[in-house]
Amino acid sequence: MKFYCTALLLVFCVQISLSFGYVTRAGSREKRVCVIGAGLAGLSSARYLKEEGIDFTVLEVTEYIGGTWRYDPRVGTDENGLPIHTSMYKHLRTNLPKPTMELRGFPIPKDMPSFPTWEMYYNYIKDYAKYFDLEKYIKFLQKVINVSRKNNVWKVKYKHVKTGEETEEEYDYVIVGNGHHSKPRLPEIPGEDIFTGTIIHSHDYREPDPYTGRRVLVVGAGPSGMDISIDVAYVSSKLIHSHHSKVHFRTRFPDHFIRKPDIKEYNETGVYFVDGSYEEIDDVIYCTGYEYDYPFLDESCGLTIKPQSVVPLYKYMVNINEPSMVLIGLIVRACLVVAIDAQARYATALIKGNFTLPSKEEMLEDWQRRAEIVYSKGRPISDIHLLAEKEDKYYDALTQESGIERVPPVMFKIRTVDTEAKLENLYNYRKYVYTVLDNENFVRSFEDEMRNNTTIYSP
Ligand SMILES: Cc1cc2nc3c(=O)[nH]c(=O)nc-3n(C[C@H](O)[C@H](O)[C@H](O)COP(=O)(O)OP(=O)(O)OC[C@H]3O[C@@H](n4cnc5c(N)ncnc54)[C@H](O)[C@@H]3O)c2cc1C
Ligand SMILES: *[C@@H]1O[C@H](CO)[C@@H](O)[C@H](O)[C@H]1NC(C)=O
Ligand SMILES: *[C@@H]1O[C@H](CO)[C@@H](O)[C@H](O)[C@H]1NC(C)=O
Ligand SMILES: *[C@@H]1O[C@H](CO)[C@@H](O)[C@H](O)[C@H]1NC(C)=O
Ligand SMILES: *[C@@H]1O[C@H](CO)[C@@H](O)[C@H](O)[C@H]1NC(C)=O
Ligand SMILES: *[C@@H]1O[C@H](CO)[C@@H](O)[C@H](O)[C@H]1NC(C)=O
Repeated sequence: MKFYCTALLLVFCVQISLSFGYVTRAGSREKRVCVIGAGLAGLSSARYLKEEGIDFTVLEVTEYIGGTWRYDPRVGTDENGLPIHTSMYKHLRTNLPKPTMELRGFPIPKDMPSFPTWEMYYNYIKDYAKYFDLEKYIKFLQKVINVSRKNNVWKVKYKHVKTGEETEEEYDYVIVGNGHHSKPRLPEIPGEDIFTGTIIHSHDYREPDPYTGRRVLVVGAGPSGMDISIDVAYVSSKLIHSHHSKVHFRTRFPDHFIRKPDIKEYNETGVYFVDGSYEEIDDVIYCTGYEYDYPFLDESCGLTIKPQSVVPLYKYMVNINEPSMVLIGLIVRACLVVAIDAQARYATALIKGNFTLPSKEEMLEDWQRRAEIVYSKGRPISDIHLLAEKEDKYYDALTQESGIERVPPVMFKIRTVDTEAKLENLYNYRKYVYTVLDNENFVRSFEDEMRNNTTIYSP
């Protein structure tokens, strides 16, 4: 609940924010916000917090902005002994078209291809931070090591990765943006220890060159599995792709690209699959996804964190048990950049006091309804983070509740058509050029024949 006063009376205005259990008077200490991470989630939060004149600090463990979009040829640990955060690889081009990768009000340059390389997109992120002058709000080389809730305030403890100096500060709000594509999720396959070939996770995949002329097994058919298997297949003598995806990929793969079911076990020189077949293998790349990882969140934060789920969250981001904490970017199957931008605006509107959240009971009920749908379909709780076909409705709901400008429906429409293009042909879906006409409509053309082959999509 909140009472607005006229501008003249603002000075005497008493702002009551029951949902957070404390009262602030005009003139008393300003609300302080801690943003964890300077990837897209942290940067877009910073931009909106700044625009609203809210007091905030961004804590970033590396010396860089951009998170996973900064390619680092190294694997393992960095110069400060910290695990390399980025999962970027040399040949990566975005897997979504330009319009769905755009941060609000900051156009991606026209001369960039329809599906930019990581480098182009990383430069775009750097330009964004420069344009909104965000770097001065970021404390680099600061690793957040403990976030706990005590006496209705957040205690955030962080450590300088070079000097080891520890700092503890109090904040009213915490925005968590540490990414969820960094900690490998590894399968457990019998015989792995006796296998004499190499095994890596896609987090450590950088370039195809080491696989030249070799027999390579790629495991998993998510976005990384599909993309990396194609990248490697250009140079490998054989590409064995093991997965159990029910998705009907219609791509015609080259002859040395062989589909296999799940792995049963390794022996010294190769792999038995569950259908009883065997393949000699030199190298294995697990594209088996990532785990949610929040080692700094103390129990008092009130979240239950499992490798594949973080619960309970309202609107896929607000920590229901401590609603002054928002986790940004924790969604699967969406235009993630656009969604992150919208979540950052929602979080900022919340902190600004533009709207108040429902009661904890109502938020829990809402969450339970979603969880029950997941369970009733016999799906694992990890699906609680899945937007997929619910994506556009989600944007509408964010706007209804918080008053933020709506993410236009054309974003979801483009993603839907792009998903279909990927099923049709993984080798050429990046040749499509998508041009937004208005909030509802876009035009798609094929790169080679842009001039006279245009399809207009409208509702
Ligand atoms: C290989 C790959 C390709 C992708 N391709 C696409 C794509 O084409 N299109 C798309 O929309 N999305 C893509 N994504 C998803 C991508 O994750 C998002 O686009 C987006 O970059 C997520 O931003 P983020 O800020 O949530 O996380 P990140 O970019 O991971 O940033 C998190 C930041 O938090 C910092 N941090 C972590 N822990 C701490 C700590 N304890 N203390 C302080 N700082 C910390 C990290 O150093 C990092 O800078 C891809 C992801 C990967 C891995
Ligand atoms: C984090 O800080 C809280 C409060 O000081 C403490 O109780 C907890 O043990 C700490 N957790 C970790 C992982 O250090
Ligand atoms: C692994 O199994 C295959 C198929 O059964 C066999 O041909 C190969 O010799 C085995 N490798 C070793 C080192 O035993
Ligand atoms: C909060 O509301 C004000 C007044 O309507 C608006 O100008 C501002 O953009 C809103 N902030 C956010 C982050 O939505
Ligand atoms: C249309 O496409 C065809 C085939 O790609 C090409 O030969 C022709 O010149 C194009 N016409 C125009 C007007 O661009
Ligand atoms: C336009 O391009 C699409 C995609 O390649 C193709 O399927 C279609 O046949 C083309 N149409 C014409 C008229 O060339």
